[in-house]
Amino acid sequence: MDWRSKLLHPDAPPAGFKSLAPSTHRASTTVFPNFAATADATWQKPYTYGIYGTPTTLDLSQRIATMTGGSHTFIVPSGQAGIALINLALLRPGDHVLIPDTIYGTHRDLMRQLITQLHIEATFYNPLGTLSAHLRPNTRLVWFESPGSVTMEVQNIPALMEELRGKDILTVIDDTYSAGVLFRPFDHGIDISMQAISKYIGGHSDLVLGCVTTAPHTDHALYLKLGDTFRILGLTASPDDCTLALRGLQTLSVRLAAAAESALTLARALENHPAIAIVLHPSLPSNPGHSSFMRDFTGPAALFSIVFHEHTTREQTEAFVDALRFFMIGYSWGGTTSVVMAYPDDTRIVAQHGPRLVRFGIGLEYTADLLEDIHQALAVAKIS
Ligand SMILES: Cc1ncc(COP(=O)(O)O)c(C=O)c1O
Repeated sequence: MDWRSKLLHPDAPPAGFKSLAPSTHRASTTVFPNFAATADATWQKPYTYGIYGTPTTLDLSQRIATMTGGSHTFIVPSGQAGIALINLALLRPGDHVLIPDTIYGTHRDLMRQLITQLHIEATFYNPLGTLSAHLRPNTRLVWFESPGSVTMEVQNIPALMEELRGKDILTVIDDTYSAGVLFRPFDHGIDISMQAISKYIGGHSDLVLGCVTTAPHTDHALYLKLGDTFRILGLTASPDDCTLALRGLQTLSVRLAAAAESALTLARALENHPAIAIVLHPSLPSNPGHSSFMRDFTGPAALFSIVFHEHTTREQTEAFVDALRFFMIGYSWGGTTSVVMAYPDDTRIVAQHGPRLVRFGIGLEYTADLLEDIHQALAVAKIS
């Protein structure tokens, strides 16, 4: 064989080699052993076409299904892609969907734009209220997101699920806050959970991925609906990113515990600070839905917000964010580096707090350094 042909043909996997590192299997073409094997090449068979996944994608999928107690996990290119997959797979023209008012902003945009264009009605409900008054004969899907990722409202999931009992309505949770471990959606009867792997599972601010997991009690038809929409939309994730996520999974529990402890220490230290009107952290009794949180979650994540007093101006809030040295200004959280974000007052979910809300995503820096940083930034911004 000519060396040029030789270079093009992959060797067999090395015999006798085993390593501790997750391996990356990339593929557009998946090779069949013979032509007869192409006869039943569907997305449900593991290795028939690159878009349906490689051993790396399916390894990540199986580990997340195991971790969350789910039946099947689809790995998709982003958390937002997971949100889109669920809505597009399960809603049809004429249907009605309910979404908490505090939902992730781009999910809200999807509802207002594409979903509405498809003649599907989307209405928003108070995450701390009840559902019954919002239900319609055509309601097909109810979303939860708890705690809200900026204003931290914790939903009373058992009570909301009770309102839906016996109704032909699917339930789904954006479980990104809990990383699939701090809350057990399927124990509460929720049908589908999704999360942005980009946050705590990825854990190092260097990948964007999402996942959608079905509950063990759901039927095969739901799996087929999600899987077929996954296939038609071509929502394949890169195996390279999946390898990073597999590595992130190995340290998820220790990273999350350490960052969460640091975040709670900071939240408690800031609770009685004279410059701060409210600290929004679900472990604090003053947080909306705190009792639900203590009952339903095994612990907090590392995300919390502070709200300055009403006399604090927008300029002071922005000066505070700019003066922070350890906290990087950015939206996506869950990595090893702490991040901060302020929200303009026209952002609907923070409307009640004006331009005075600042959200922190705590990383793995030394807690005392972070606290000192917040104190010096308050002084620079002259917030008191
Ligand atoms: C609660 C929540 N859900 C979903 C997403 C979307 O995730 P991704 O950035 O991977 O699209 C985010 C991102 O910030 C989020 O905070």
